[in-house]
Amino acid sequence: MKFETLSIHAGQQPDPATGAVMTPIYQTSTYVQEGVGEHKGYEYSRTGNPTRSALEACLAALESAEFGLAFSSGMAATDAVLRLLAPGDHVLAGNDVYGGTYRLFERLLRPYGLDFSYVDTTDLEQISAGLRPETGLLWLESPSNPLLNVSDIAAIAAIVQERAQEILLVVDNTFATPYLQRPLELGADIVLHSTTKYLGGHSDIVGGALVTSDEDLYQNLAFIQNAVGAVPGPLDCFLVLRGIKTLPVRMERHAANADMLADFLEQHPAVESVRYPFHPSHPHMDVALRQMLNGGGMLSFVMRGGEQAARRVAENTHLFALAESLGGVESLIEVPAAMTHASTAGSPLQVDPGLVRLSVGLEHIEDLLADLDQALSR
Ligand SMILES: Cc1ncc(COP(=O)(O)O)c(C=O)c1O
Repeated sequence: MKFETLSIHAGQQPDPATGAVMTPIYQTSTYVQEGVGEHKGYEYSRTGNPTRSALEACLAALESAEFGLAFSSGMAATDAVLRLLAPGDHVLAGNDVYGGTYRLFERLLRPYGLDFSYVDTTDLEQISAGLRPETGLLWLESPSNPLLNVSDIAAIAAIVQERAQEILLVVDNTFATPYLQRPLELGADIVLHSTTKYLGGHSDIVGGALVTSDEDLYQNLAFIQNAVGAVPGPLDCFLVLRGIKTLPVRMERHAANADMLADFLEQHPAVESVRYPFHPSHPHMDVALRQMLNGGGMLSFVMRGGEQAARRVAENTHLFALAESLGGVESLIEVPAAMTHASTAGSPLQVDPGLVRLSVGLEHIEDLLADLDQALSR
C-alpha cells in the first residue's frame, strides 16, 4: 500500500467486538486472565496496550520497519536508545542536535560513563575522523534543529558499515517525518520520533517513538520500554494515530507555505540569511533533494540586527505564536538560543542568538506573510 493509505489504515482495523471504525481507547491498566498465564496477549498496560499496539504497528509501517515502540516523550525514546550502550562506550553525534538531546547526553548520561563527541555530520570526513574503536552509536538529526542541516544518511550508513565494530546508526526523523524521509531505507538501524510534533500534528500530546527492522534491537528496546516504563497512555496513542491519518496532506501544505515564506524572507532587507532545505541558498540542497520528498515545514533565519532584532520579531507576530515545540497545524515562532536550545549556551553547540525558528502551520499563506511582514517592519 502507498504511504497515504498506510497512514490511515496501518495497524488498525474495525474493532471486532463492535465494528467501531476508530481504534478504541483501551483505558485499562490490566487484563483478566482465563487461567494463570492464559491471556489474549495483554497482561499489564506498561508492557502492552491494544491502542498502543495499533500505534506501534502504524509507525513501523510508515517507516518501512518491522517493529515500532511508542514512548511517553521523544526524550524517553532517546533515553531508551542510549540504554543499549554500556559504560565506556562512545557516541558520535551531530553538533547541532536538539538542545534537550544534548542536555540528556551531557548532564545525565556522561556521568554514568558514556562518552560523547560532536561533529558536523554534513561533512563525511569529520564523521570518519570522529569514529573511535569504542564508538557504539552515531546519532544523526536530519534536517537538524534549529539549523535545518541535511546529512547524507546513505553515505553515512556506508561509512559506519565499513567499520569492524558494530556501530548503531540512529536518525532523529522528527523534522522530516516518514512522509518526507525514511532513514531505514537509507541504511539506518533505528529511527526516532518526537510524536509530539508532526505525527501528532495538533499540539495536544507529548510522545515519542522508535522503529527498527532488527529483531534483536527491537527485543532489547522493548525490554527497556517495559523495564523503565516511560510509556504513553492510550488516549495519547489514539490522538497520535488520528493525527497520522492526515500527515501526508498536512506535510504538503506545511511545505508549500514554508517554501513561500522562505522566498519572502530571502528578499527581506532585515534578514541576513535563510535556512530552508529545498532552496538553492541551502548548502545541502542536493542531498535534501535526493533523500527528502519536499522541504518540510520548518525554516530558520538570521536577523541582520542580531539578538535584539530576533527577539523583537518573535515578540511582535500575532498569528505566529511565540512558543517552543513545532509541527502543529498552527504557526509558531521562537528564538532558539534563548528558548529551545538554551541548554547549549556556552557549549560548542551554542546557537546564534540572532537566529529565529519558524514552525510554519496550515493557515492561509497571505495571512502568514502579512504577519511576518508587519513584525519585521518593527
Ligand atoms: C528534533 C527533536 N528531537 C527530539 C525532541 C524531544 O521530543 P519531546 O519533546 O517529545 O520529548 C524534540 C523536541 O523538541 C525535537 O525537536
